Amino acid sequence: MAFYPFIESRQAYPRNQWYVAAWSHEIGAAPLMRTIAGERIILFRERSGAVRAVSALCPHRQMPLETAEIVNDQIICPYHGAAFGSDGVCTHLPFQKHVPAGMDLKAFHAVEHAPFIWLWVGEEEAPDLSRLPFARSLQPESGQTLLFGMKTFHVRARSQIVLENLFDQSHISFTHPLSLGQRCAENGPTKPAEIIDEKNHLSFTRLSPAKDTDEALHALFPTLSSQTRIRSRSELFGVALVIAAGSEIIACDEEGEPTSSVGDLVFFHAITPETDYSTHYFAGIMRNFALNDKDISNSYAERNDQVVNEDVRVLEAIEPCLADADAAHEPNFVTDAAAVRVRRRIEALMEKAPSDPVYEPASLLPEQMKYEA
Ligand code: FES
Ligand SMILES: [Fe+2]
Repeated sequence: MAFYPFIESRQAYPRNQWYVAAWSHEIGAAPLMRTIAGERIILFRERSGAVRAVSALCPHRQMPLETAEIVNDQIICPYHGAAFGSDGVCTHLPFQKHVPAGMDLKAFHAVEHAPFIWLWVGEEEAPDLSRLPFARSLQPESGQTLLFGMKTFHVRARSQIVLENLFDQSHISFTHPLSLGQRCAENGPTKPAEIIDEKNHLSFTRLSPAKDTDEALHALFPTLSSQTRIRSRSELFGVALVIAAGSEIIACDEEGEPTSSVGDLVFFHAITPETDYSTHYFAGIMRNFALNDKDISNSYAERNDQVVNEDVRVLEAIEPCLADADAAHEPNFVTDAAAVRVRRRIEALMEKAPSDPVYEPASLLPEQMKYEA
């Protein structure tokens, strides 16, 4: 049986890919321990500021190095004092010269593209930098941006259902009735106007019909005309970074035709498998208007926390029911098109499950026997 929600793969997520291991601001000189793709690792900064990632358990007696002191870029095991370089190689033991085999920590490739620390999850020796989601994906084309409300959530559910949920607009009115419901219930999910499907990037864009500009929008954007449209986008970069509910506020002329973009509000999410059945969820927000208004930041951040927690409740309720789920026979709605497209795209990056041996009753007949119908 394939690993739900895949039809042909027994993997839970694609390997040989980059995943977010942490926010830049989470990593300092002291180690942070985190399980990523089933591997327990520690992350820390060298004196140069470079981020390093190595396996988290001392090979001698499995002491977690979470509480290790780091002295001159050497990790000191808190149990018997073995010292490791920031590349994981054991360099010194306190009571003997000879370092026995098997004492090195495994080193992982980590790359910092603020606000994220990316980790290469894969068997391939050399990481493929061309698969690293483009750092500028999170930057607007012009102007200044404020990044705020950055938070790390933990979800007891497999990463693929967390990812697909971000491309599913039809749950909004039902899962988020208090935080988002009313606004979205009015419009309902609309068909994407534009789809871009290229290496490392899949994007769905929708443009709402023109509406009278309400007071709240006028207060934020005094130059806004009397008609406004919202361009919303859902985008997947690489396999793990999602912009969902990115919305651009567009001024319109009297006929309701778009004239110019006045503000951009982007909710971004990085989805990283912790194990086959659990996920780290890094959520943050970006905007290019009212940059100094703390109240706006707080109110968007609070609402985003509420929205993510509502999603987490649903996903954690589903996860324990998936052991025998068979995606091949699951019905789909028309509103599932984007999420299913994401599912197929991710599945295409994974190894196919070897097909199960087929039971062929005919082959059990002794060869010399003739079988007559
Ligand atoms: S457990 Fe680390 S040196 Fe013994
Ligand atoms: Fe949601």
